Amino acid sequence: MVLLMGLASFASLAQPSHNLMPVPAEMRWGTGRLSLKAPLKLQLESTADPAVAAAASRMLARLQGPAPTRPAAGPVLQIRYGRVGQAEKFDEERYSLRVTPMGVTIDAPTSLGVLRAFATLEQLATTEKQRRYLPEVDIQDQPRFAWRGLLMDPARHFLPVAVIKRNLDGMAAVKLNVLHWHLSDDQGFRVESKVLPRLHEVGGANGYYTQLEVKEIIAYAAARGIRVLPEFDVPSHTTSWIAAYPRLASNDSTYGVYRSFRTSNIAIDPTRETTYSFLDSLFTEMTALFPDPYFHVGGDENDGRQWRRSPRIAAFMRARGMVRADGKTVDKHQLQTYFNRRVLAMLQKRNKIMVGWDEILGPDLPKEIIIQSWRGKKWLVDAVKLGHPALLSEGYYLDLNYPAASHYLPDPLPAGTALTPAQQKLVLGGEAAMWTEFADSVIVDSRIWPRAAAVAERLWSPQASTQNVPDMYRRLNAVAGQLEAVGLRHRRAPEQLLSQMAAPPTCPPCAP
Ligand code: ACM
Repeated sequence: MVLLMGLASFASLAQPSHNLMPVPAEMRWGTGRLSLKAPLKLQLESTADPAVAAAASRMLARLQGPAPTRPAAGPVLQIRYGRVGQAEKFDEERYSLRVTPMGVTIDAPTSLGVLRAFATLEQLATTEKQRRYLPEVDIQDQPRFAWRGLLMDPARHFLPVAVIKRNLDGMAAVKLNVLHWHLSDDQGFRVESKVLPRLHEVGGANGYYTQLEVKEIIAYAAARGIRVLPEFDVPSHTTSWIAAYPRLASNDSTYGVYRSFRTSNIAIDPTRETTYSFLDSLFTEMTALFPDPYFHVGGDENDGRQWRRSPRIAAFMRARGMVRADGKTVDKHQLQTYFNRRVLAMLQKRNKIMVGWDEILGPDLPKEIIIQSWRGKKWLVDAVKLGHPALLSEGYYLDLNYPAASHYLPDPLPAGTALTPAQQKLVLGGEAAMWTEFADSVIVDSRIWPRAAAVAERLWSPQASTQNVPDMYRRLNAVAGQLEAVGLRHRRAPEQLLSQMAAPPTCPPCAP
């Protein structure tokens, strides 16, 4: 028995080192391999989801080069799935992937699982003496968390369509499944609005997405099994809105689009009915444009100074008993909860589930609202204890430029959590966040990648197999190369910028 146990542990130690990230739930390695010299012959046994055939050709092109002109005659890549997967319903992403010297088989309950299997298959390929191979392996895989997001912020620095698309390709490569699109902030409003056009004309003067482009990106994401969660951050982070429509302001000042990256604490007026009719028009338009069942309304970083300083808004609070325990000091949190309830009603009318940052949490907040924790895990724990579904982003702020390990180790449900099984179920997952105060569209890939892959693994892979930091770094390096081949520019762009500094391409004339 002791000998057998010794052998078993030897077997697991002897597993070939692989470059899979996120690491699959179960792997059994064989000793053979499949040559990729001849083009794999695609055998699609289900055709219900056109996304699968398209994803297969992208994957095969990256694995083996452009599609052959004659029908492929190599080993068979056989694909079976039960039904079309619906990412927005957290449909199953489970798959099994088997590579033998004879061919490849992928089996999954839904087409989403097939897309995830393709991501694994691509990472399996190895090169030896300029020949490409797949190792013999049997993989059974499924995600630990259903919500695995990346927040991108085109509000601070605009991110053109091509940047979003290549980042969606990167997300698909590491099995992230939610693009959280932070579409408005003090510094910009980035979606064309047909009902309130000054929002994009003024707020998006230096860049916005047309509605056609929004649809194009949603379709691009959906074809990769990725949901698009729009965020329109209210009541603070709205200077660009107020610049476009001064009637939203909480005071008599007028504002331009904010040019600083400091927190503004400028907030729209939550006491006027005109504010709610404005939001109702905008949300009617935007909830129709974005098909995701979820809708993020921000709610962060409003210290309430503008509300307290306005005699009219302070009187509104007092008249409704929105005061602290002393009975006198106005309590902005109660006013923001009032605001949240009004916004929630608008979203419910349109069958959307509201998501907000952790500042909106409070005992009176309706339980269906999803809380995204960014200030600390305490708020994630408080949220689920109060019965809210919750997401973790604290620890996953890529814009802070911390080492990958510091993003890898934070866990939405750490081992030994004191949460009850019911509370644990409310932890949906998490999101890496890339705020762009200090990154533009050229450099942004290098701030996201490859570190977002470490967060992706934290959210996808079993807890027990995600504790080895040196091995994470080893694989991250390999994945970084793969991601560059997928189209990201995290390695190329910084190199180009540095070489431009050394020798500007237009030199001469280049005198300062
Ligand atoms: C946030 O970082 N203010 C959500």
